[in-house]
Amino acid sequence: MAGLLIALEGPDGCGKTTQIELLKDRLEREGYEVIVTREPGGTKISEKIREILLDNDNNEMGSCCEALLYAASRAQLVEEVIKPALAEGKMIICDRFVHSSLVYQGIGRGLGIKEIEGINSFALNGLKSDLTIMIDIDFEKGLDRKRNQKKLDRLENSGNDFHKKVYNGYQYIKNEIKDIEVVDGAMSKEEVHEKIFSLIENKIR
Ligand code: TYD
Repeated sequence: MAGLLIALEGPDGCGKTTQIELLKDRLEREGYEVIVTREPGGTKISEKIREILLDNDNNEMGSCCEALLYAASRAQLVEEVIKPALAEGKMIICDRFVHSSLVYQGIGRGLGIKEIEGINSFALNGLKSDLTIMIDIDFEKGLDRKRNQKKLDRLENSGNDFHKKVYNGYQYIKNEIKDIEVVDGAMSKEEVHEKIFSLIENKIR
């Protein structure tokens, strides 16, 4: 069987991390070989780029630099981890992928969806996720969850206006671009998991 690249998406605090853990266990119990990775990050070089991107000291970073660094981190992850794993028929679950850049940089930072699609198409040589699942969550609820969780990084500290734009960006992608499956994040963690798992089962069939 050919491998499958599944991207989990959603605004900060939507519950991706919990869902990815549940999904990995479930898929492994079903007999799949699963690789979990995250963006930005997932390779030595991409993790270094992640540090630069999320460092609260780097407040002067321009939006263009930010978008290119996300794409650079992704290019390395695809080359080093994703392509080989796909070739070996593995199931790859990626915590965020290109849609995060469309939303955070394209809409949140105002760089434009087409522009971000362009640099990512170059960075990934056209590779796309096979299935992208977005956990949809209320704007305030997501941010509250994040704020209670840990010390905030540079992106999370970008202010309510930015996060509102990110939230609206996900709504835009969901309603207008429609290449993304949407799961209601207000459901219980078990219900969200069942929904995500059934989307993957459908894709495999
Ligand atoms: P993430 O690792 O998902 O953070 P957390 O686990 O704390 O939710 O992502 C780090 C931040 O980077 C997050 O605020 C979203 C942002 N981001 C972008 O702005 N563009 C991108 O392309 C990606 C992948 C992430």
